[in-house]
Amino acid sequence: MIILGIETSCDETAAAIVKTVRGKVSIDSNIVSSQIKIHAQYGGVVPEVAARQHVQNIIPVVENALAVAKCQPKQIDIIAVTAGPGLMTSLMVGVETARALSFAWDKPLLPVNHMYGHIAGAMAGKKIVFPALCLIVSGGHTEIVLMRSHTKYRKVGATVDDAVGEAYDKVAKLLGLGYPGGPIVSKRALSGNPTAYDLPRPMMSSSDLNFSYSGLKTAVLYLSKKVNLGNEQVVNDLCASFQRAALDVLLAKVKSAAKKYRVKTLMLAGGVAANKQLREDLAGVADELSMPLLVPDFSLCTDNAAMIALGAYYMSQDKKVTGDAWKKVRANPGWEL
Ligand code: KG4
Ligand code: ZN
Repeated sequence: MIILGIETSCDETAAAIVKTVRGKVSIDSNIVSSQIKIHAQYGGVVPEVAARQHVQNIIPVVENALAVAKCQPKQIDIIAVTAGPGLMTSLMVGVETARALSFAWDKPLLPVNHMYGHIAGAMAGKKIVFPALCLIVSGGHTEIVLMRSHTKYRKVGATVDDAVGEAYDKVAKLLGLGYPGGPIVSKRALSGNPTAYDLPRPMMSSSDLNFSYSGLKTAVLYLSKKVNLGNEQVVNDLCASFQRAALDVLLAKVKSAAKKYRVKTLMLAGGVAANKQLREDLAGVADELSMPLLVPDFSLCTDNAAMIALGAYYMSQDKKVTGDAWKKVRANPGWEL
């Protein structure tokens, strides 16, 4: 089966070709045109600017994905597109392009939930023993998902306010470090002392599996007003202390969820899954619980279209994909997992 994936939910215009032969998965192309440099000037994503960039980039990106994979449109079996959640104006570009291609090439269209795409990026053709628990950590979401199979899942925990990636981005902004914050803050944290500042770990001992990150961000804001941000070591220590607090909560909740639902596999997905400290710490938790940890390849952590094509592959194993679906598929910015 050959799947063309299209992803435009936020600020990456992406297209990919994924091929599957008897359960074996190969990613033949995974093109991502990032707008980070443009949005960095504003310290975050500007939706109108993102949409305009998507309009300019989408066709060349799709053509590039086909060319790199040496794939002709007639060889495609399914077109998969992110239909939500995300920014409405960004989603619309990918969805309307995918609908047009589905009609013009006479190929079935499958709408894929962006968060499910992140999970699929972590599964990516690997053998999984279910039930599994997936921690999804991105710029817009922090969720714990219980997976009964590749396609049957239930959200069992989520943030009640900010997402963990958003907290990284906001902390970077208030420390004047740039955008996106995750890679910069985690790099600075490498040279910092994680116990230098005592920061809160909100909801770490609450009995549910939910998270809260706005209090931690505010604590860093107050602290940043008291310390000398001109001192490089102070900033490194702040980054390290923030990261330790942010990750401690994730690890504690994953541990209690894994025990509660007696899962057999841990999974990590989303942009923050690129964080090496988190990967290392979660591997420690998995060891302690004597279960494997599946992490996505670095190229499948932040937004990309291969994960969307992979999601469509798993979904297509369960349900029939119909040729006229393009008539009904719409962008759905609030689509819950
Ligand atoms: O999944 P993603 O590309 O987009 C959303 O769906 O939101 O995730 C982007 C988020 C951003 O908040 C970014 O700061 C964060 O992932 N991120 C990281 C790292 N790389 C990206 N956070 C922590 N450590 C990283 N190395
Ligand atoms: Zn994402």
